[in-house]
Amino acid sequence: MHIISSAAEMQRIALDCKRSSKLIGVVPTMGYLHAGHASLIRAAHEECDIVITTIFVNPLQFAPTEDLSRYPRDLARDTAIASEAGTDMLFTPTVEEMYTPDFAVNISIGGVTAPFEGEFRPTHFDGVATVVAKLFLLTQPDIAFFGQKDYQQCMVVQKMVRDLAFPLEVRICPTLREHDGLAMSSRNVYLSAEDRINALVLHKALQEAQRLVESGERTRSRIEDLMKSIVVSMSIPHLRVDYIVAADAQTLEQPDVFAETQEIVLLLALRLGSTRLIDNMVVRAV
Ligand code: PAF
Repeated sequence: MHIISSAAEMQRIALDCKRSSKLIGVVPTMGYLHAGHASLIRAAHEECDIVITTIFVNPLQFAPTEDLSRYPRDLARDTAIASEAGTDMLFTPTVEEMYTPDFAVNISIGGVTAPFEGEFRPTHFDGVATVVAKLFLLTQPDIAFFGQKDYQQCMVVQKMVRDLAFPLEVRICPTLREHDGLAMSSRNVYLSAEDRINALVLHKALQEAQRLVESGERTRSRIEDLMKSIVVSMSIPHLRVDYIVAADAQTLEQPDVFAETQEIVLLLALRLGSTRLIDNMVVRAV
């Protein structure tokens, strides 16, 4: 596996690969890789000739109050995981390499960025879109792989790719879960032993809501109330609910009653102490 930290070198190599008609798969990450990232790399390896994994903790997508400085990092471990999963090139730029002091671009996407994450992290998706666009230009993917765990982020990237006509496909891969259902996330490392147990409430609420929808419930408030009641019933200390919602899986609109066969996404964001966790599940109304 080749490790590249220069943006210019990354772009030159990627353009060379393109000229020799190699199919490039890119897996953008912020590092501290886990089995979920490894599954994206493996999916890229199956479909593409060259797999580029990027590791960059992007300051633009963190608000000043968020966890940028304590975001977990372990490049040695990441290198081993990325290589083992099938990465050909690991792109690990520094902040200075990605953003020169006079960097002045901000990509702001309307619509799908507004609700849910957008309400609680108003500048987050601008930062994500800006860095992902730059990573796409530097790595020239034919296919870019993202995890469904960050559902709204996937929609934002898809929207950007469509609206700006990036010549690539966005592949959304399933969320990987721990044995007990907790969605894998680099931020799980922040959880205390007690919070780790309490964090199971996200998956439990999603599973119960899935059962409710599959039993024929289509009224949004009933679906959301069930998830909220499950979260409240756990009496979790230091819990803050950012949102617990059901929405149309494509538009994120929230009708009072979902239509028969409509695809619904169930989304939660909770703070357990200082750790913010998100999870989601897509389910079809009957
Ligand atoms: O999902 C992430 O890890 C990040 O938001 C991404 C897509 C790598 C952009 O920094």
